[in-house]
Amino acid sequence: MELQDSDKAKSLTEYTQVIIHEADRLQTLVDRLLEPHRKPREIGDVNIHEVCERVRSLILAEFPCGLQVVRDYDISIPDFRGDKEQIIQAVLNIAHNAAQVLAGESGRMAAGDAKIILKTRAARQVTLGKKRHRLALELHIADNGPGIPPEIADRIFYPLVSGREGGSGLGLTLAQTFVQQHDGVIEVQSQPGRTEFTLKFPLP
Ligand SMILES: Nc1ncnc2c1ncn2[C@@H]1O[C@H](COP(=O)(O)OP(=O)(O)OP(=O)(O)O)[C@@H](O)[C@H]1O
Ligand SMILES: [Mg+2]
Repeated sequence: MELQDSDKAKSLTEYTQVIIHEADRLQTLVDRLLEPHRKPREIGDVNIHEVCERVRSLILAEFPCGLQVVRDYDISIPDFRGDKEQIIQAVLNIAHNAAQVLAGESGRMAAGDAKIILKTRAARQVTLGKKRHRLALELHIADNGPGIPPEIADRIFYPLVSGREGGSGLGLTLAQTFVQQHDGVIEVQSQPGRTEFTLKFPLP
């Protein structure tokens, strides 16, 4: 009888731990999902290369060994109006996925064969959403990783879709929200050996 009671107590404690853990996990999910709507946007001049440089140093700080983050900038691209922190978060979420996937490929970083490219270009006469713009900015974020798993490829921007152990599947959802809030779009092309996300924003 006593033994049964202590067993019961033990499994109750375990259940309680699971509930606490899940409640914390859900709180984190909700906090992240609400983030774009929480603070008022701070609109200013955004220089896309300052954004890229910030993202580059954040990624290199987290993956200091063997990852190359190559810049290919068209520095004639003008600033545009927007919330710089939101754009940084969007680009960081995309670049961070690439770095995580590359880090998961065993030996890849150690061999110095893991590469992310940040490339900026201006494009003329671009339709974003339904609106035509005389000038637009394109930021390409490419990696030489294994590609997006085909079984989730058409759903990666949906919340909670993840191909990663322990992934919450919110990074790209948030990136898309931030980009759309700037009248921009995200496109993606992926195959084994090369994945490329393209962000497009209207330019003044
Ligand atoms: N560059 C990439 N190469 C291969 N797969 C990718 C790449 N970018 C995204 N993915 C896939 O898309 C999934 C969804 O990405 P997303 O950033 O939305 O969520 P997550 O990284 O799983 O979790 P979170 O960003 O919330 O921590 C990833 O789990 C991964 O499987
Ligand atoms: Mg992510």
